[in-house]
Amino acid sequence: GAPIQIGLLGCGTVGGGVLRLLADKSANLAARAGAPLVVRRIAVRELDKQRVPECDPSLLTTDPDAVVSDPEIDLIVEVMGGEEPARELLARAMDRGKGVVTANKLLLAAHGPALLARAVERRVDLAFEGAAGGGIPIVRNLRESFASDRVERIVAILNGTCNYILTRMREGGASFAAALAEAQERGYAEADPTLDVDGHDAAHKLVVLAMLAFGARVAEGEVPVEGIRALEEADHRHADRFGYAIKHLAIGRDLGGTVELRVHPTLIPRRSVLANVSGVLNAVLVEGRALGPSLVYGRGAGDLPTAVSVVADIVDVARSIASGVAGMQTRGIALAERPLRPLA
Ligand code: HSE
Repeated sequence: GAPIQIGLLGCGTVGGGVLRLLADKSANLAARAGAPLVVRRIAVRELDKQRVPECDPSLLTTDPDAVVSDPEIDLIVEVMGGEEPARELLARAMDRGKGVVTANKLLLAAHGPALLARAVERRVDLAFEGAAGGGIPIVRNLRESFASDRVERIVAILNGTCNYILTRMREGGASFAAALAEAQERGYAEADPTLDVDGHDAAHKLVVLAMLAFGARVAEGEVPVEGIRALEEADHRHADRFGYAIKHLAIGRDLGGTVELRVHPTLIPRRSVLANVSGVLNAVLVEGRALGPSLVYGRGAGDLPTAVSVVADIVDVARSIASGVAGMQTRGIALAERPLRPLA
């Protein structure tokens, strides 16, 4: 088929990873999508910055509007992060009939239901595997594999930076500050790392997963959230002595009329599976009424892991554009206002 033209918004850690992976397996990806995938323009904040060699400088622009309004572009990939102008740009792209891929959990936690409704209305796809769990396939699992099931509970490690810091403090005796600096160096942390260590990034992802798992529309601001700043090395030692590990967990339960969502450090038995998910790894345990428990785990942050998820979405959305069924993926995600049950 005719090439699918891609506009990339942002070319930081994840954007660079996306360009690398698209270049690395271009023939295979084209075969899977049913059309070659061509990056046509890349919007960035600064033109002069060291970037991956796969980034062609002649494609760069500092004007994201020009990318979103380019009539030749079929598919917008948003990896710039933040609420605005990302929301506005994606809304405009959908209004122009373009498919959208985003890894922006903060945006989806705040505006996911509105963006999904817009996608349905405009008959375009909105895909966001990279927004939760980094490289782990969890968004697609919940949307597709669990379509016939009722998810009752989710227990997850959703922030790679927190899990990395807790692991380094417990196993390597590192200080909080040193471990955070390492996580930043490795490209795990958000541009504003307080989102990681204060638990909000995990809460954003939990809200995104709750949308798919429970059909719940909840405001992130209402989710009880606690981060890992207050934990000290001694806490890990004491937990250890009694056979526990401290993990930063995101927990969701469907209680029928209400849902329970919360994010906080938790003592869990050292021999449990989640206690042994270490470093930057994330894990999501899903309990379905029909399936029972299932678990996915893998790298939850970093350029290439997250890019694997973003590229998977690019291929899916490109395929639906190339085969004339754009908008199918976004259908049937029924959301309802679900009050949060207050913590006892
Ligand atoms: N800062 C995030 C984390 C990146 O540490 O998990 C992946 O979303």
